[in-house]
Amino acid sequence: MRQHQVIIVGGGLAGMRAAQKAQEMGADVAMISKIYPTRSHSAAAQGGVQAAVSPDDSWESHAYDTVKGSDYLGDQDAIEILCSEAPDDIYALERMGVIFNRTDDGTIDARAFGGTSVKRTCYVADQTGQVLLHVMWEQLLKSGLTLYSEWFVTRLLVEDGRIAGCVALEIPTGRIEVFRAKAIVLATGGIGQVYNPTTNGLVVTADGQALAYAAGATLMDMESVQHHPTTMKANGVLITEGARGEGAFLLNANGERFMEKYAPNMKELASRDVVSRAETLEIREGRGIDGCVLLDLRHLGRDLIMSKLSQIVELARDYANTNILEAPVPIRPGHHYIMGGIKTDVDGRTWDVSGQGRWRGVEGLFAAGECANVSVHGGNRLGGNSLLDTIVFGRRSGAGATEYANGSDWAPTSEDALLADQEAAVKAIFDRPSDGLRASHVRLEMGTAMDDGIAVFRNEEGMQATLTRVRELKKDYGRVSVHNRGRVFNTDLLSVLELGYMLDVAEVIAVSALNRRESRGAHAREDYPERNDEEYLKHTIVHRGADGDPVLDFLPVTMTRWQPQERTY
Ligand code: FUM
Repeated sequence: MRQHQVIIVGGGLAGMRAAQKAQEMGADVAMISKIYPTRSHSAAAQGGVQAAVSPDDSWESHAYDTVKGSDYLGDQDAIEILCSEAPDDIYALERMGVIFNRTDDGTIDARAFGGTSVKRTCYVADQTGQVLLHVMWEQLLKSGLTLYSEWFVTRLLVEDGRIAGCVALEIPTGRIEVFRAKAIVLATGGIGQVYNPTTNGLVVTADGQALAYAAGATLMDMESVQHHPTTMKANGVLITEGARGEGAFLLNANGERFMEKYAPNMKELASRDVVSRAETLEIREGRGIDGCVLLDLRHLGRDLIMSKLSQIVELARDYANTNILEAPVPIRPGHHYIMGGIKTDVDGRTWDVSGQGRWRGVEGLFAAGECANVSVHGGNRLGGNSLLDTIVFGRRSGAGATEYANGSDWAPTSEDALLADQEAAVKAIFDRPSDGLRASHVRLEMGTAMDDGIAVFRNEEGMQATLTRVRELKKDYGRVSVHNRGRVFNTDLLSVLELGYMLDVAEVIAVSALNRRESRGAHAREDYPERNDEEYLKHTIVHRGADGDPVLDFLPVTMTRWQPQERTY
C-alpha cells in the first residue's frame, strides 16, 4: 500500500498550486492525475487572470464587480479573500517565470473582460492558462514532486467520517491500488462532458464532484452552470472573451451591434450570462445566421490580432473555416463552466468546523478549483476569475491540508478488503454482455438532454424532461458494456467509469435547478424571470441520501458589505 500525508487528486492549476504549497510547508505530498499534468484543461483558459495590480485599481473594486457578477449569490467573505490576495499571487507567478504581457512602461498589462469596471485581466496573449500551467509544472518538476500520472481514482476511503485514502486504477496497466493519506485535496476540474457541446476537454468528467458526493460530502449551487457567449458551432471550442476585451463587436444578421440594446453601458463587455441571453434572443427572434451570431474582429487590425490573439486565428481557421482578419466568425453560447461544486470553506475544507453541522462533509477531505465551491462565483462567474480561483484557493487548500495532516493520526484502512471490492466492481463491468449499450452513446444522450433543458434559458417542463431522461440513463448504466476486456490502457473501461460519475452529477444539477424557482445569474428561468431575494438569496446544497437519491437543503449566503441591488450593465 502506498502512503502519503497529503494526496492531491488532479494535475491542473488548482492541484499544482495546492501541491506546491503543501511541499513548501514540508508535507510528504503526492499528486494523482488522470493525464500527464500539462495536458490538464487549465491550459484551455485563454484570455487571462483577474487581479487589481494597477495603482489605479483596488481589490475592493474587483470584489464588488465579482459580487455583482455573481448576482449576489457569492459568499462575500470568500470574495474578499480572492480579490485581496490576488495581486500577491500574480507577483508570485511572475517570479516563477510567467511572462505576462507588459505595458510600454514595463508593468503588467491588463485587458478588459466582461463585467469588470476597469481593465483588470492580466494575460499572456491568448494562451494564459497554458503558460501558467507549464511554468507551475516546471517548478514542481524542479522540487521533485511525487507524481502518479495516468492513475484514475475510483473511490475515496472514509473511516468514521474521516478521510483514510483512496483507491486508484493505473491506466497503462489496469492495476488497482490503495493509497493511504491523512488529507486529500480534490482538484479535478469541472463537469464539461456532462454537456454536449462544451468548451471543455474530453477529460473533464466531473470526477471530483462525483467522488466527494459518493463519499458523503455536500455539493452546492449545482444549478449555476455557465454558457460562454463565444463558442464555435462545429464543436463548442472557445473563442476567448479576450477578443471582446480587445474591442471585437458582436453583430446580428442585420449587421447591428445588438448588445447596445441589452447592455447600453458595457455592450459586448457585459457579464457572460447577460451576453449569452442576448445572443440567444437574437437567434430565437430570427436575427441570427444558421443558429449563430457574428464576432467581428476586423477593425482591430492585423498587428493587434496577431500579437495578442493569434491562437484564435488558428482556431477559427481550423474549426470555422474563417480567417478572422478578413471576416467575422459565427459563434453562439455554449457550455463552459460550473460555478457550483463541492462545498468548502475558505481553507478548502469540505466539512463544517463550526461544530453546528450546517452541512455534511468528510473530515480531511479538501477541494479547490472548479470542482470546489468556496462560493466566489455564485450565480455567474466573471471571466478571468477561474484562473484566479485555482491559484488563490489551490494555495489555501494545500496549506489547509498540510496543517490538518500535521495535526492528525492515520485513519485505519483494510487494504485487502478494499482491493477485493474494487476488483469485483471492475469484473462486474467486464462480465456484462459485450453487445450491451456503449458508453459513448449514453454520454451523448446525457449531454444532449442537459443542453436541451438546462442551458441559457430554462423552464420547469424542460428541466423536468432532462431529469427524467438522466434518471432513465442512470437505469441504463447497468447495461453499459466494454468491448475491450484487457487491462492495459483500457480507455473503454475508463469511459464507463467516467460515465457513472457524470450521470450522478447530472442528476444533482437537474434536481438543484428545478428547486431554484427564480432567475439568478446563469440560472435564467422563463417561468420565473425575476430574481427573488426574499425566498432565494440562499445556496442550494445537496448530499446523497441513504437510498442514493439527492437530498436538498439550503445554506445562507455570507454578506459582508454589499447588499443586493438591481444588476445592470
Ligand atoms: O474567454 C476566455 O478566455 C475564458 C476565460 C475564463 O473562462 O475565465
